[in-house]
Amino acid sequence: MTQQTTQIPVSSILLDEDIYPRKGIDHRRVGIFAENIRDGFRFDPIEVELVPDKAGIYRLLDGAHRWSAYKSTGVEEVEAIIKNLDGNDPLLYAATKAIGPKQLTEDEARDTARRAYSGNASLSSADIGKAIGRSRQAVDAYIADLRAVNQMGRDIKIFRMHRLGIPQDRMAKRLGLDQKTIHYHLGKMPVLANSLNGDLSRGFTIAQVAEKHGWTDPMVWSLALEGKNDTGRFKELGWGLRTWDQWEWNDCDKRFGDDWPGRIPAQMIAHILRYFSKPGDLVLDPMAGGGVTPDTCLAMGRRCWAFDMMDRPDTRPEIESFTWGISSDQQFSWPVSAKGKPDLIIFDPPYFDKKAADYDKKSISGLSRKAYLEFLEAFLALLKLNVKKTTRLAFINADWRDFQNTPAIEEKYKGGILIDDYLDILKKTGWYHTHIIQAPMSSQRFNAGVVSAMQKKGILGVISRYVIVLNQQGLE
Ligand SMILES: C[S@@+](CC[C@H](N)C(=O)[O-])C[C@H]1O[C@@H](n2cnc3c(N)ncnc32)[C@H](O)[C@@H]1O
Repeated sequence: MTQQTTQIPVSSILLDEDIYPRKGIDHRRVGIFAENIRDGFRFDPIEVELVPDKAGIYRLLDGAHRWSAYKSTGVEEVEAIIKNLDGNDPLLYAATKAIGPKQLTEDEARDTARRAYSGNASLSSADIGKAIGRSRQAVDAYIADLRAVNQMGRDIKIFRMHRLGIPQDRMAKRLGLDQKTIHYHLGKMPVLANSLNGDLSRGFTIAQVAEKHGWTDPMVWSLALEGKNDTGRFKELGWGLRTWDQWEWNDCDKRFGDDWPGRIPAQMIAHILRYFSKPGDLVLDPMAGGGVTPDTCLAMGRRCWAFDMMDRPDTRPEIESFTWGISSDQQFSWPVSAKGKPDLIIFDPPYFDKKAADYDKKSISGLSRKAYLEFLEAFLALLKLNVKKTTRLAFINADWRDFQNTPAIEEKYKGGILIDDYLDILKKTGWYHTHIIQAPMSSQRFNAGVVSAMQKKGILGVISRYVIVLNQQGLE
C-alpha cells in the first residue's frame, strides 16, 4: 500500500528523546547520507506524528539520520508521512522502524523495553519483544525488577481500596484486573500488614515506615491506630478535639490529602467523623478532590467511597472517576449499584465562582448563579433518593459575596449566595439541618499589604466557612 506523503518544513520536526529508541545519532551515518543528498539521491520519506498539544510541530518516528542529514545540507522541506498511531505506543512503533535497517544494540533494546513498560505496564513482553526484535524471555529479563515494583504498587492500591471498603468488582474495574486477581492479592494482605507492623513495633516512625515500604502516611496510620477508639486516634494524630461548635485551624495537616485547590483541613473531616459517625461507618465523598476525606477515613477507621471528575488512577485509585452531570444532555445518575448506602455524606463542592479557573471546564464552579443553585437542588434530591433514612449529610460551604474590590456599604447582595440560599434548597430537597458549625478559613493567608488596602477602603473580607450537618427528619 502506498502511503500519502506531504512536504513539511525541516524546522517543524524535532527528535523527541522520550520516543527515540537509540542511544544517540550515528554521525558517520549522517555524513554518508548528507553526501548522498548532495549527489541527488532520493531517500524514502521520513515518518512523523504531530506532537501532542503543539500545533504544527512534528516528532520523528522514523528517519532521524535522514532528517539530520537534510538539516546539515540546508534542505528546507522534506517529504514525510504523517502518521496517526491511534493510541499505539510511539516508542515501540519507532523501535519497529529502527530494527529494519540496523538492529538495536543490546543496550538500546534493554533501555527501550524498560521505557515502554514504565510508560504502559499493560504491554506484554511478547509485544515489546516483537517491536524491538528480541524474544519474550529476553524482555522478561530486561523488565523483571520493574515488574516486581509494579506488582508491589498493585498490592498497595488493593490494600488501600479494600481498607476503605470498596467492593471487589469496583476495584477490579478501576485497576483493570479481573476479580480472581484481586482475590489472590487480597490473600497477601495479612502478610503485607505483618511486615509493616513489625517495623512499627520496632519503634520506627509512621513517616519512616511509609517511606521504606512505599505506602502513603494515611495507610500506615490506618494500621498503627487499629483497635484504638476515636479519642485515642485524635491523641496519636496530635489533633486537639474541639468541644464547641467553632472549629478553627491555622493550616491543613499536610499528612492528609494532596495539595489541591480548595483543600480543606483533615482536622475538619476528623471532627465531622468524630461527632457524626461511628467506627466502621461508610462515608461518601462525591467531590473528593485531593483526597483528604479518604485519607482521614483511613486514619479514623471509617470506610469511604470517593468520586471526582478529575481522574488520577495511579496516585488516587480510591477516588473513582465520575462526573455528576450539570446539564440536561449529561447523565445525572448514581455511580454505583444500589447495594451499600452511606451512613454519612461529606459534600465539599467547589464554591460558586471562586475557583472556576482552577478546575476542569465541566466543574460546577464555572456555572452561573442560577445554574449552580439548580445543580445543587438536583444533586441534593438525587442524594436523597439513594441513601438510607438515617444517612446524615455534612455540607461544607461558605458565603459568597462579591467583596473583592467593593466597600461593604456598597456591596450588592444580588449575585451572591449566602447561607440562607443553601438552607432553603436543602429544606426543599428533604434535608433538615441539625447543627451549623463555624469553621472559618485562616486569615493568615492574606498578606499585610492586602489587609491594609482592604482596611483603607472599608472592604469586609470573607473567611467564614461552615459545616452544615443535616438529617432527613429534622430535630423531631
Ligand atoms: C472544593 S474541591 C474538593 C476538595 C477536597 N475536599 C479536598 O480537600 O481536597 C471540589 C471538587 O469537586 C470536583 N467537581 C466539580 N464539579 C464536579 C462534577 N460535576 N462532578 C464531579 N466532580 C466535580 C472538582 O474536580 C474538585 O476536585
